[in-house]
Amino acid sequence: MLIFGIETSCDETAAAIVEDGVNEICSVVSSSKEFHEKTGGIVPEVAARKQVESIVPVISECFEKYKEIKGYESIEHCYTDIDAVAVTIGPGLLASLVVGVEAAKSLALFLNKPLIPVNHLIGHLYGNYLVEEGVTKNIAFPAVALLVSGGHTELILIKNHGDFEYIGGTLDDAVGEAYDKVARLLGLSQYLGGALLSKKAQECKVNKIKGKLPRPMIDQDNFDFSFSGLKTATRRLIENEKIPTEVIAREFEDAVVEVLTKKTLNAVKKFSVKSLLMGGGVSANLHLRETLGRECEKVNVKFYAPPLRLCTDNAVYIASAAYFMYANEQYDFEKIKFEDIQPNPSLGIID
Ligand SMILES: Nc1ncnc2c1ncn2[C@@H]1O[C@H](COP(=O)(O)OP(=O)(O)OP(=O)(O)O)[C@@H](O)[C@H]1O
Ligand SMILES: [Mg+2]
Repeated sequence: MLIFGIETSCDETAAAIVEDGVNEICSVVSSSKEFHEKTGGIVPEVAARKQVESIVPVISECFEKYKEIKGYESIEHCYTDIDAVAVTIGPGLLASLVVGVEAAKSLALFLNKPLIPVNHLIGHLYGNYLVEEGVTKNIAFPAVALLVSGGHTELILIKNHGDFEYIGGTLDDAVGEAYDKVARLLGLSQYLGGALLSKKAQECKVNKIKGKLPRPMIDQDNFDFSFSGLKTATRRLIENEKIPTEVIAREFEDAVVEVLTKKTLNAVKKFSVKSLLMGGGVSANLHLRETLGRECEKVNVKFYAPPLRLCTDNAVYIASAAYFMYANEQYDFEKIKFEDIQPNPSLGIID
């Protein structure tokens, strides 16, 4: 089954074609990040305008790529190959989501194929399903998923495809948001500085100030997190003490990784799961990936993290999630009407 996915929840405009939820055939991502760097944060209207400018070129480029891969002479052959269209309906910025949803409806109407609405957060987790270097991943359930992105930090129990239970999450800032704010405080980047902060942290081989920052809620018997106090404590450290940037970056990252690892492993043990999945932009963090991988090995639980290119927003995982929902009859596709498929900026993972 060939699904054409569309993702426009924030500042990326993306399209992809995926076969049977696991084989990525082609993918196109266009980002308006450079425009938001100038303003030091996302201006929703600017993001939406860039979505409008990019959506048709991105969809066309994706079909062109597919045509080339298949060696077809005409683009019409590509259209007939597609079995369904999938689109992110939320969460995200309303005006950005509208662009993708309306484009997807038009495409599905034109192709006369079903349209599958996808939750962006669930999409992030399906980045784990794509075949990598010929290896198919047979993820065993039940599983715990740690979703760590720019807008979310959640622990989810997955009993089966589409059967999710929220078990905990951040009470304030998302972990990606904390990374971005601290990166700004350290003068590393004005916008989305998480990866740069982590790179800086790697320059510090031995953390001589270990424990100077708090590890919020680490010993609490729940699956919730809090990162806003950690961000404030980091700001005080930057302002009051002369500590090299890489050392502060390292101590911040150590605090984040320790908290996420401890609570995630608590969940893995409590629910006796077979697998742990990561998803979201922060799952590109190598320190976190390595630590969780190591801890899972100790308790004989299989650990999955998406390939780095599928950690941040793209349409590959949207098409993949759509396939598994379709295959597991999550929706009655005969009954879903296009007009019922609407953007939902505040969609939760179990809505
Ligand atoms: N290596 C890294 N270490 C830490 N954080 C990182 C790394 N790479 C990316 N990030 C962070 O990931 C976040 C972006 O992730 P993503 O694109 O999934 O978020 P989003 O789509 O804005 O939010 P959501 O998916 O919750 O709607 C940013 O906060 C960015 O700084
Ligand atoms: Mg995202």
